[in-house]
Amino acid sequence: NNSMILITGGAGYIGSHINKELNKKGYETIVIDNLINGHESAVKWGEFLEGDLNDFEFINSIFNSYDIEGVMHFAAFTSVAESVEFPAMYYKNNYKNTLNLLKAVKLANVNKLIFSSTAAVYGNPKKVPITENHPVNPINPYGKSKLMVETVLENESKSIDSDFKYVSLRYFNACGADPETEIGENHNPETHLIPLILDVAIEKREKIAIFGDDYETFDGTCIRDYIHVCDLAQAHIKAFEHLQEDETNKNPLKKSNIFNLGNGNGFSVKEVIAACEKVTGHKIKKELAEKREGDPAILIADSKKAIETLKWEPKFTDLNKIVETAWKWHKKLNE
Ligand code: UFG
Repeated sequence: NNSMILITGGAGYIGSHINKELNKKGYETIVIDNLINGHESAVKWGEFLEGDLNDFEFINSIFNSYDIEGVMHFAAFTSVAESVEFPAMYYKNNYKNTLNLLKAVKLANVNKLIFSSTAAVYGNPKKVPITENHPVNPINPYGKSKLMVETVLENESKSIDSDFKYVSLRYFNACGADPETEIGENHNPETHLIPLILDVAIEKREKIAIFGDDYETFDGTCIRDYIHVCDLAQAHIKAFEHLQEDETNKNPLKKSNIFNLGNGNGFSVKEVIAACEKVTGHKIKKELAEKREGDPAILIADSKKAIETLKWEPKFTDLNKIVETAWKWHKKLNE
């Protein structure tokens, strides 16, 4: 009976890529997803069980039925704007439901968990590139709900009688798709920059709105750190292996950790549009729009800690290469 990894939210954009990568590496997986935002068609590997983390009996029964070695926890609502509109819904889904998961994890004596966190925990950065020591100060309910989970994970990992260990991965701007186009980004409604631009390229949308061009950046548009979803996937596996190392050592503080995941390069909105024009060969119609509330001018990760500690080697550092994978998937999705 091989041990398995439970992936919550594994039918979603990021979770489905990690599911593929884990299976490629020979891990067995069980995906749970409530399919509110996920797609069952994205679960092409492992076992799939439809259900919600608010259902403790459901989660608990999974731990009772399978030999689960660890958990990768992606299930969450992820829209900043929606979180401002419906904060309670975000705290319930992202925080409260995670407490159910943790209760089942502890009852089953599962001691390894990888958490899908976000750069949104930093709020408006005081300094870029952002290291993990940068003070956390989320400015929206989405970021706050993720930080609340990080806090409880930290507390649990420090509780005396437990060998529970976790790694929290703070992603910057996840983008791109599986180069084999088996899975990719498919949000409804879509709010992310790259797929929106690609919608213009396939003439599904008329133009892309540039949210502000008088930021204090070299071209006036916001700079973000775009990290390829397959590089994120690799980091999750490295993080899990990091927790597997030294299993006999019962000091949980030794392994629990927080890592930023970015590619270390910032690109402006205009640069992303230009890369999409180059890769797709289509001229992208753009218009200047109002600034979006709560958008920091620059978010760039310092990912040195993940690179050094986890021996993580991000492969997609070139924006054109990232967009190429997104474009291939985007065409297939909209065929
Ligand atoms: N943008 C536009 N026009 C659009 C959409 C986006 O100009 O139509 C700009 C935004 O202002 C921003 C950049 O493109 O400067 C990227 O925007 P996204 O919406 O793609 O991503 P965000 O940086 O807002 O947010 C992402 C994730 C969040 C996460 C955050 C952390 O979606 O979940 O990164 O850095 F919290």
